[in-house]
Formats: sequence, structure tokens, C-alpha cells
Amino acid sequence: MNTTSPPAALTDVHRPRFHLTAEDTWMNDPNGLIRHNGMWHAFFQNNPHGSTWGNMSWGHAVSEDLANWSNLPVALPFSETELIFSGSIVHDAENTSGLGTPGADGPLVAFYTSAFTQSHPTTPGIQAQSIAFSQDGGATWTFYADNPVLTRDSENFRDPKVFFHRESGRWIMVTVEALDHSVHFHASDDLLAWEPASVFTHPGLDGGIWECPDLLRVPSPDGGEDSWVLVISTNPGGPAGGSGTYSLIGHFDGRRFTTEAPPQPLDLGPDCYAAVSFSGVQGDPVLLGWMNNWAYAEQTPTAPWRSSMTLPRTLHLERAADGTLQVIQHLVIPEEIRTLDLEVQASSAVLAELDAEEPFRLRGELPTASAHRLVLRFGDGGRDRDLVLAIDSEGHVSLDRSSAHEEPFAPEHTHSQPYASARAEGAVAFDLVVDRSCVDLELDGGRALISQQIFPGARTVTVLTEPAA
Ligand code: FRU
Repeated sequence: MNTTSPPAALTDVHRPRFHLTAEDTWMNDPNGLIRHNGMWHAFFQNNPHGSTWGNMSWGHAVSEDLANWSNLPVALPFSETELIFSGSIVHDAENTSGLGTPGADGPLVAFYTSAFTQSHPTTPGIQAQSIAFSQDGGATWTFYADNPVLTRDSENFRDPKVFFHRESGRWIMVTVEALDHSVHFHASDDLLAWEPASVFTHPGLDGGIWECPDLLRVPSPDGGEDSWVLVISTNPGGPAGGSGTYSLIGHFDGRRFTTEAPPQPLDLGPDCYAAVSFSGVQGDPVLLGWMNNWAYAEQTPTAPWRSSMTLPRTLHLERAADGTLQVIQHLVIPEEIRTLDLEVQASSAVLAELDAEEPFRLRGELPTASAHRLVLRFGDGGRDRDLVLAIDSEGHVSLDRSSAHEEPFAPEHTHSQPYASARAEGAVAFDLVVDRSCVDLELDGGRALISQQIFPGARTVTVLTEPAA
């Protein structure tokens, strides 16, 4: 596959190296994530003509290792009558759709939402689910002639995530009616004709519209039947204000998802939205989120590119001491990142001086005995800009970016939701990756993740500890 040149040299101070960005345009949700023929494909909501939302199309990037990405040409372009909203891709290995060439490997089939514009001749303003397919491993795409394949004559029916359910031998499509706070399940034998299977809603997630659902099959920690995790993004209503993503652990019988567990934030930070999983992965799911927040997404101080993805994360389930299942996530951290193991003490000390232009990773443990802070002090002689990882006397850990920026940024979204650690364990492990403006934090062996953007615009950083004021 021919790739266009990788993002030109890292000429600007905010551009991350290992977090996927569009080369010089706007990005939102990850779309069509799939591992296929040894390659990781990430498509994404893209405005091919600008640095703010609009002209929605699917951008495309590929990676061999989930760390180094190459941008490819736009895969699914918008038209005057149709915007290409979020969705997913499956490999139709058996050519159940008949869209492939007989005798050849089955096609990749992309499901996306046709957001018909006011110029559409018959269904202006309607959102319905449509198909495009590729017979060359994702390089080129053909829009299906009989689109859309599923409509409810609704203006807010979107974000199809499709997977094959092996027990029932059928394809399942998961979508939302965004304003109704409901997830709609449909089933199909051939990816073309879809019948309603069930509708799910939950009173615990009423903070905003529902978007970008995903249903993950997750191996059980006890070796029994697989569990299922429903992922839903809400805007607003996120754990750190603005938009955010939640998970619900439950069961899926091929038609209906049921749960008795309360929704849990998938990420405690402000900057993880529309997180969905890669198709074509066996075992623990691998997810990618959009590292931004609809509360301020169009104001981030980067140009002409705007927004990135989070680092990928794997998700699995653990049985907690009280017998309930708990989501555990691990960041997929690029091997080539500089790593420092820190000895954090609850006293004042300078631990390291680093070049802030190169991505770095800090690992250690925060003692829970007293309140203190790990400070990343960015600066080149001017005003200090601090990113603060703080633990209070109750063992609550939070990431505070209130004074981490060169210019004022998102003053109403300065802190992650605090993570309540078990103080009795004596320390909370942290694993913190800073890739210029992108910060991903794993806490307590994956019991919590925090994604935050920062815009310090500095070339050096001093890492220090200090007792809490
Ligand atoms: C979520 C979302 C989706 C929609 C897409 C449009 O961020 O609003 O529901 O498909 O973005 O860009």
C-alpha cells in the first residue's frame, strides 16, 4: 500500500509523535478501526478542508505497531447531499454480503452514518446507516449502490458498530438514537438486510445525548462464558465535564444486552470521547478514543491540524474482592519512549530535568500516607506551567492541568475526576506518558485511566515532588 509522506517533521510544539493526528486538518471520532492482514487501520472523522468540524468524511491512517502512524488519502469523502458520520468496518471473510469477488478474499465492509444534508432530494436531515466496501484491503472504497441499508426516518440515528456474533451465527449492528438515550441492536445474515433485535436504555446515563456505542466481547476472568461490555459516549455528562465515555458490564444473548452493574467512566479525564474497539482482534479488546472534548474541541491552540487520538488501550475484566467484575485497562505504550522510574517521596525533591519536545514516560508509586504532589513544571525561563498529579489525605488521586498552559485554556475543565484508591494498600502505582500536548495516565494497575491535553508550549520540563500546600 502506498502511503503519503508521514506527518512532516514535528515542527510545532504541540504536535504529538505517537498519538494519531490528521496531517493538517480537523479530526474527531475514531471510525472503522480494524486489524487486517497484520496492519492496524484507523479511519476517523475528518474535515478534509479545514481545522474545525464540517464536511465530514473518513480520514485514514495505518500502523504496524499502534505507535507509528502513516496518513493515507481520505477514504470516504463527503458530498453535497451526504456527510459521512461515524461507524465501523468488518472483514466479510465469507463474502456473506456478496459484495466481494468470488474466489478472492472477502471484502472489507464499512458501515457509516449517512447524515443527509438539506440538499438531499428525498430525505434531507435524516441519518441512516450505509455501506462502502473495499476489495484491496482498505486502500480504495466503493459506495454501495442501494444505500442506506437501514433507516428509521430519524434525524439522530447513528454511529453503527458491526460485529459477527458467533453463537447465533449472525451479524449484529449497534447504533444509537442519540436524543432518546437508547442503543438499538439489529441483526443480519448478509450485512445488507437488517432486522430489529432489541433496544437498550439506562437511567444512570442521562447527562447528555448518547453517541458512538460499542459492544465488546471480553474473556471472563474465571474462564467461563465471555462477558460483554457496552461502551457509550455521552455529550455532555462526561466524568470530567463536557463529553465523555462510559462502560457497562453485562450479558449479550445475540439479541439483547442486559446489565445489573452501574455505568463506570471509561476514563476519568476530560479528553477521551467516542472510544471504540478494533475489529479483527481476538482476546482482550483494543480501544482508541478521540483525545478531545466537545466542550472546547474547536478551541485547542493547534494549527492547521486539530485533535489527536488517545494512546490505544487494552481492556479486560478482573474479579474484585467483593466478587463484582471490574474493568481494567492498560495503555499500549510505544516501546521507543524514554522511561524514567521515579522514587516518589512525600517531601520536596527535584527528580528529573527533561527535554519536553521528546515524548517521555514516568513510572512510580504515590505513597498514600500523606497528601503530596508530583509536579511536571514546564518552562524555558519564563512563567512556570505546572501539570500536577496530586494525592490527598484520603488517597484520592487527580490530574490537574489548571496552570499547565501557555495561554488560558478550558478554564471550566481543569481536573480529572478523582480516583479513589484503597489507602490501606500504602501506595498507588502510576504510569504517565507525555507526548507534547497529549497526556495519558494509567493508575493503580489499570483500575483507572486519565486522558488530558495540555498546551504548555515549552521545550523543557522539571519533574519534582512537594508536600501538598
Ligand atoms: C460524536 C459524533 C457522532 C457523529 C460524529 C459526527 O463525536 O457526534 O455521533 O457520528 O461525531 O462527526
